[in-house]
Amino acid sequence: MKTFLLPRVRVAIRLWFRAETKRARISSRLISSIEKIPRHAKIAIMKIFAVALVIMFGFVVSQSAEADFIGHGGMVRSVDVSSDGTKVITASFDYTARVWRFGDQTELAVLNRHEGPVTGAVFSPDGQRAVTTSDDHTAIIWDMQTYKPLHRLLGHTHKVMAAAFSTDGARLATGAWDKTIRIWDVASGTLLQEITTQAPANAVVFAANDTKLVSGGHHPTIQIWDVETGAPSGKLEGHKMGITAIRLSPDGVHLMSASIDKTLKIWDMTSERERRSIDIRDTQVYDVRYSPDGARALTAGKDGYVVEWDLSRGTPIHEIPAHERIAWSAAYTPDGRFAVSASSDEQARVWHVATGDRIGLTALADNTPKPWLQSDHPGAKHYTKCAKCHALTADGPARSGPHFAGLFGRQAGGVHDYHYSEALIGVNFAWDETTLFRLFDEGPDKMLPGTKMPVQRLTDANELNDLIAYLRILTKGGG
Ligand code: HEC
Repeated sequence: MKTFLLPRVRVAIRLWFRAETKRARISSRLISSIEKIPRHAKIAIMKIFAVALVIMFGFVVSQSAEADFIGHGGMVRSVDVSSDGTKVITASFDYTARVWRFGDQTELAVLNRHEGPVTGAVFSPDGQRAVTTSDDHTAIIWDMQTYKPLHRLLGHTHKVMAAAFSTDGARLATGAWDKTIRIWDVASGTLLQEITTQAPANAVVFAANDTKLVSGGHHPTIQIWDVETGAPSGKLEGHKMGITAIRLSPDGVHLMSASIDKTLKIWDMTSERERRSIDIRDTQVYDVRYSPDGARALTAGKDGYVVEWDLSRGTPIHEIPAHERIAWSAAYTPDGRFAVSASSDEQARVWHVATGDRIGLTALADNTPKPWLQSDHPGAKHYTKCAKCHALTADGPARSGPHFAGLFGRQAGGVHDYHYSEALIGVNFAWDETTLFRLFDEGPDKMLPGTKMPVQRLTDANELNDLIAYLRILTKGGG
């Protein structure tokens, strides 16, 4: 790696032009022809294409990864792979976490019990449980067989940003911006310990055979705590800015931390001293993972790159231009061969680390029609906001709010597979000009107390009527 740019260019060229398999050649050819087809026809073709792909190659590549994890309607903030490598869990700002089968990237479950963006999702060591954390101040423990929530962990008073299971899977630590970390009993969901930290917490990890808890956040100092007593038991000092991620090495001997100061640091857990610092150079890193053998690490960065590092030399081995927007998280598969990345672009993607090749399809972003972007209707510009959280059709990309197909005349709270808040359950009115006007004139919080639709008001009656008129045009199709 003599220069930083060259390998990236090489990887990019490789990505675009060197299709390793016949399947990749066929898909890229198909995709370039699809580019010329009108939007509305594209979706239908994509569906046929996807089915054809599955039929043609499903059995041939059943052992390897197939496609992107597509379906989230908001940035994907975190990703984790189960210890047996069969499942991936993603957490998104669309208020859901999703579980996917690694291999064909099929969605297995949508975990939609949070009432705010989901900030993280982590499998338990045995893969039988997962925990999700959210802006809604809660964490939820889920059963990974039934995908049902087992415990809702209440008590944090600000966004919960981090969660980690103990290595034996019996305990769980959560870290939040309320400057506390809390330790819970996984089986019962009860709170065992509450620890006050120096700053809002972004990362927690159990260490020293589950006797210590290590936390980091909006402060350069990493803190170490005694799990039984909750008392402070040490500090790791050396970073110059806040901490984004902390991981324990597979052998439990070292810790690795990532910071906004653009360094990775490796710490010896016995001496509690810094062993090495790796300069990330030109980007901030939001997640870091040890490779299964502990010799390498994977980082996900603000520049959208997923980089694999040689930890003994402190140099990059593979630099993957994984996303055009921020890469928030990256995780290895247990064999260390693949990386799964999560991004602001609403996708999680799978990479073959050694070649930097994207495994599976390309260019399958949210390609549903967005007529409001081209419309001259005066209400169209107000609709762009709604589109972030609402799809137009029942089969559109999942968003944090219900879809709008057939909205006018539809019973409030009436999309039967959408998880509404209490505010919309059992209400008895339909959406029309009058009720939609009230929704934004009064504000969702006033009209529907306790709703999870964020407060927003359109106080200008003309603008509001424009939006409603445009909504009627937009939604009359889909029913
Ligand atoms: C940040 C996300 C977000 C934005 C932006 C947003 N909504 Fe919502 N909306 C929601 C959520 C979440 C719900 C579900 C509310 C609940 O269950 O309490 C909802 C519910 C609704 C409902 C009730 C639907 C039903 O089936 O009963 C309507 C109507 C609605 N939104 C209209 C709009 C319009 C119009 C806009 C744009 C001006 C908009 N929303 C913008 C998140 C959003």
